[in-house]
Amino acid sequence: MNKVQQIQRRLPVGNLGSVGNILAFVSIKGGVGKTTLALETASSLVHNFDKKVLLVDANFSAPNIGLYLDLTNDLTLHDALNGALLHNAIYESHGIDIIPASMYYHGAIDPFKLKKILNKYKPRYDFIILDSSPNYEELKPVIAAADKIFLVTSPDNVTLTTTLKAAKIAREQETPIEGIVVNKIRSPKHEYNLSEIETISEIPVLAKIKDHKKMAHSLYQKTPITILDETNVISKEIKRFASAICGSPEKDGWFQKLIPLKNILQKEKVNRSLFREKFYESL
Ligand SMILES: Nc1ncnc2c1ncn2[C@@H]1O[C@H](COP(=O)(O)OP(=O)(O)OP(=O)(O)O)[C@@H](O)[C@H]1O
Ligand SMILES: [Mg+2]
Repeated sequence: MNKVQQIQRRLPVGNLGSVGNILAFVSIKGGVGKTTLALETASSLVHNFDKKVLLVDANFSAPNIGLYLDLTNDLTLHDALNGALLHNAIYESHGIDIIPASMYYHGAIDPFKLKKILNKYKPRYDFIILDSSPNYEELKPVIAAADKIFLVTSPDNVTLTTTLKAAKIAREQETPIEGIVVNKIRSPKHEYNLSEIETISEIPVLAKIKDHKKMAHSLYQKTPITILDETNVISKEIKRFASAICGSPEKDGWFQKLIPLKNILQKEKVNRSLFREKFYESL
């Protein structure tokens, strides 16, 4: 069976109207975690929620999903943007269908073709997830191709300022911003908290993720943390975030169930309920 047949066989039956949301992880700052979050969210949607996911490296100048997963590839997104059949550039890793991009591509490409070539693949997937470049010009075609945007930021002034700029581009292009994922939380005392981020940006925070040393292990193993260690705090938060994307209810852990202690001891909690309802309705 060839790859396309394989993909078609796994189509969710009778659910075609609700498949194919193109979700992009976006920021105008390098190193905040776009690739990590795109990959981990894709992995959780596949492994925790049995979704069919296409992960696309839409970082046209400095792609690295292939490096994260140790993919060897011939054809890439760059070739597809230059007329090659997209399905020939799809590779499978950890149950995720992946379109890598070329590190060294000498031909000219029109990144604005991305929307058109991906739209054809929407019916085959529950979700198409786009990683992106922090480069302002490269970001525009990704935002144009996406149905919904997740802004990735770390909770510091410099990064949040650049995040607001990314939000401005998305608004100018009229692509809905679903929310912010706060990544690499290091020292809450010296960083913005969630409500400050929501007040400054006027955008809801949908996930909060610590800066965790285990991510180095994941990188070294070339395996998503959501697969390597399901009990890791990052894996759990990614799972809750992915669950909201799927519209599944979020269960309280044992700690949340201790009602009398809740308000005293509980850390600032992400409120995903509105997002879940709105996102699910719009599918
Ligand atoms: N929550 C985290 N805790 C610890 N390390 C992290 C976390 N998130 C990402 N990293 C690490 O930070 C580095 C940069 O992450 P990543 O490549 O995802 O950023 P990026 O926004 O995609 O960068 P670029 O803009 O250059 O593409 C990687 O080494 C990654 O493993
Ligand atoms: Mg990246």
